[in-house]
Amino acid sequence: MSLLELDDLSITYRIASGEVPAVRGVSLSVEAGEALGIVGESGSGKSTLAMSLLRLLPKDTRIDGRILLDGEDVAAMKWGRLRAVRWAEASIIFQGAQHGLNPVQRIGEQIAEPLLVHRIAPPEKARARVAALLEQVGLPAWRARSYPHELSGGQRQRVMIAMALACEPRLIVADEPTTALDLMVQAQVLTLIKELIASHGISLLMISHDLSVLADTCDRLAVMYAGRVVETGPSNGSFQHPYSKALAAAFPTVGDPSSRLAPKGLGGDQPDPQQLPTGCVFHPRCPVALDTCSTVDIELRPAGDRRTAACVLVLEERC
Ligand SMILES: Nc1ncnc2c1ncn2[C@@H]1O[C@H](COP(=O)(O)OP(=O)(O)O)[C@@H](O)[C@H]1O
Ligand code: SF4
Ligand SMILES: [Mg+2]
Repeated sequence: MSLLELDDLSITYRIASGEVPAVRGVSLSVEAGEALGIVGESGSGKSTLAMSLLRLLPKDTRIDGRILLDGEDVAAMKWGRLRAVRWAEASIIFQGAQHGLNPVQRIGEQIAEPLLVHRIAPPEKARARVAALLEQVGLPAWRARSYPHELSGGQRQRVMIAMALACEPRLIVADEPTTALDLMVQAQVLTLIKELIASHGISLLMISHDLSVLADTCDRLAVMYAGRVVETGPSNGSFQHPYSKALAAAFPTVGDPSSRLAPKGLGGDQPDPQQLPTGCVFHPRCPVALDTCSTVDIELRPAGDRRTAACVLVLEERC
């Protein structure tokens, strides 16, 4: 049984102008100890998917399909059970989460809070556990006495990681955990996440718009476009879907200044979820679209080497 299983998950926001289908028919799984990366441009539904895992979406949001955490249906959890699961079994590190630290409370007290709330450590042992957690994320134990404003952005994100680890969850969901950090600090934080999940056997679902962040940290990648997964496969293989290929080509090559000056990006934007194109939703931007692509919608299909892709060309190549 997978640690996390999404089965045909669709998420629809309800707003004054109607319904916003932000996630559409996503099926994915994360095995114990595995790191899965979800990549896609802004607006592709990544954060919506992340928030649904622990029922953090607005109340009137419609969720179809199933989310199973260690076999347990998240939608069916009673409030008390859900509270216990948050942090203790699965914890989420959000984009810019460092800004969510309480500015008037010392770091140590903030890390200790989930330990005490979830009775992971009695009050007399919490201080030692906080010191150990800070050391695990590369901060000296005396930092427990600091206030958030006394730390740099990278140090604050390390504190968020310590909080996510505090209750020893089996799954960490990290939504753009390094986006707000400069490149050097980003690399340090990524290395830290990678080492911690490997040494603790924690599963990771890491979300980013930046393919280079995920390629190095994750075993497998899922590429999202307009609320759908359009490709899945090992992170060290070659992409098959034209959108994934365009995402990969958009990243400058380290040491090649010409690629930084002229990245091969995609024109246009993700479609508005309320006005999705017909057929393959990527067809208006697809550089290799066929005439049929505006009418035929292709589902994810096997594309070799533990890979799936949703593109008519991938199917034609395999026939
Ligand atoms: N609370 C909300 N109400 C209505 N629409 C939303 C809400 N949050 C996100 N959306 C829309 O859902 C789509 C997916 O957003 P999001 O999950 O934030 O994407 P990503 O994290 O990939 O940038 C976008 O079109 C966004 O505008
Ligand atoms: S199905 Fe057609 S439009 Fe969609 S990605 Fe493949 S070639 Fe492009
Ligand atoms: Mg997001």
